This record gives sequence, C-alpha cells and structure tokens, in this order.
Amino acid sequence: MQASPIEIQSFQPEHLDAAVELSRQAGWPHRREDWALVLSLSKGFVALENGRVVGTAMATLLGDGCATVNMVIVDETMRGRGLGRQLMRAAMDAAENRECRLVATADGLPLYEKLGFAAFGEVLQHQGTPAATERPADVAWAETVAPATLAALDTQAFGADRTALFAALAERARFALVKEQGVIKGFAALRAFGRGEVIGPVVAENAEIARDLIAFILSERPGAFLRVDTTADTGLAPWLAEKGLGHVGGGIAMRRPKADIAPDRKLKTFALTSQALG
Ligand SMILES: CC(C)(COP(=O)(O)OP(=O)(O)OC[C@H]1O[C@@H](n2cnc3c(N)ncnc32)[C@H](O)[C@@H]1OP(=O)(O)O)[C@@H](O)C(=O)NCCC(=O)NCCS
Repeated sequence: MQASPIEIQSFQPEHLDAAVELSRQAGWPHRREDWALVLSLSKGFVALENGRVVGTAMATLLGDGCATVNMVIVDETMRGRGLGRQLMRAAMDAAENRECRLVATADGLPLYEKLGFAAFGEVLQHQGTPAATERPADVAWAETVAPATLAALDTQAFGADRTALFAALAERARFALVKEQGVIKGFAALRAFGRGEVIGPVVAENAEIARDLIAFILSERPGAFLRVDTTADTGLAPWLAEKGLGHVGGGIAMRRPKADIAPDRKLKTFALTSQALG
C-alpha cells in the first residue's frame, strides 16, 4: 500500500485544536490559548496528511537578528519518516538569516544536531505548589507599565527585540516590579499557562532581585500550581526547589548559526517566557 502524500502548509487558526491534541500526545501541558499566543507571534507550519494535522513547527521572529524555532511535534505514528526534518526546514527558512534558537527535548536533539544546531546552555523546568513564602518588602505589582518600557529592558538582557511579545503579554500577564528611586531594577511576569500559571520572563540586575520577584509572586499565589523555566547559569534552581518548585525536566538550549547577539550584561534573564519563546 502506498503512503498518502504529506503537504507542508502554513499554520492557520483552524489547525489549533489538532495542534493541542498533538502536544497532549507528546506530554506537553499547552492549552489552546498557549498555542494561539505562539501562533500570533510566529510563522507556523503544519504537516497535513489528507487534511489531518500530523506535525507542527513555528518560527518566532525577534527583530532582525534572532528567531526562536518552537512547537516542533510529529504525530507519534508518523515519526521517523522525515517529517520533523521538513517542518524544521520550513521554520528555519521562515527565520531567513536570523540566528535560530530552540530548547531541545531528548527526542528533538538528534534532529537538531544533524541540522547544525549547537548547545549553548541548559533550561531547567521547575514547578509545583509552593510552600508558604514570606512577602519581600521591595516588590509590588505594577499598576500601569508601558509594555515598550519592559520590552526595552528585556532587549538589554535577551539581546534581541521582543516588543511584539511584550505587547501580547500586556494583555495576558501581571507584572511584579522592583524599583529604586523610580528606576526599574527587575520585573517578573505572571500569566496562565498549561496546568496553572508561569512566572516569566524574569529580568533583573542580579539574582537577589530575581529571587525577590519570584518570592513575591509565590507569596501572592498560595495554593496555585506555578512553573518557572530557568537556566542552569542563573544558579536559581536549588532555591526554586527549596521553595517547593521541584525540578521536573527541561532541555538543551541550542542555536544555529551563532550570530553576534551581545546582550548588555547590566540585566540578565533569570526565567524564560516559555521554552518556546525564550
Ligand atoms: C522530534 C520529532 C519532531 C522528530 O520528528 P521525526 O518526524 O521523527 O523526525 P525525522 O523523521 O525528520 O528525523 C530527522 C532526523 O533525525 C533523526 N532522528 C530522529 N529521532 C531520532 C532519535 N530518537 N535518535 C536518533 N536519531 C533520530 C532521524 O534519523 C533523521 O535523520 P536523517 O534525516 O538524517 O535520516 C519527534 O520525535 C517528536 O515529535 N517528538 C515529540 C515532541 C518533541 O520532543 N519535539 C521536539 C521539541 S524540541
């Protein structure tokens, strides 16, 4: 029997329900809204077999220099036939000559290595329902804050322009701030995601401020299921575990090709928006 032809097409909102099913099958917690957020910021692709979605991948363009490649999934009955590679090619082409970054699962790693991606860090996923946490005095929820102000601070830490992401977060997230004499020293976003809520991005001048921002949110959300995706180089992981957010997995941060993206080290990213969006 001949296998049916597979078409790679652009990801449309009508593909969202099938995409949620694929991510559930892969054990990912993404809700329809989580997929829709990434789609709204990205160029997405689906693999269709007789109109049925059997694979997905997206490229989220961040300014002219950088893109994240994300939501790469192939239906488990269709793996090993080159679909992952085709979807990755479509997403990488959409990123044009930008540096592509991604967070690789163990499943994805061999494919990404073959496509020329190289590891540059480790993402650590921490989550749980935290123990009671004291509220740090120096943190408050932002009453109003212009997304462009936070995007500009984020650009210093991340090294690429994520203005569109911050405009989207402004509609979905609350922001906690640490200010000194009116100057923002760090911020953390809290929004609904997956099984509960996610804290991120967290951008701060140092780890102490980052811990205060996260502790403030933990103290404000007793009983909530919270997730933080941090990186190994922040040193936050043991503290997160102490707070009741256990290490449950993560991935390898990879990029291709390495571009000359030089963040201003006055601010650092202590937690990702998500593994998809960096
Ligand atoms: C990762 C994933 C998308 C790969 O999809 P796929 O359609 O099976 O991939 P392909 O058939 O295109 O394989 C691409 C290449 O990687 C290799 N490869 C794929 N999985 C591999 C594995 N587990 N071990 C070794 N090599 C592997 C293939 O041999 C192939 O090499 P080739 O093109 O030189 O022959 C799929 O396994 C998946 O959906 N996993 C669950 C979700 C996930 O973890 N996604 C990655 C997110 S970062």
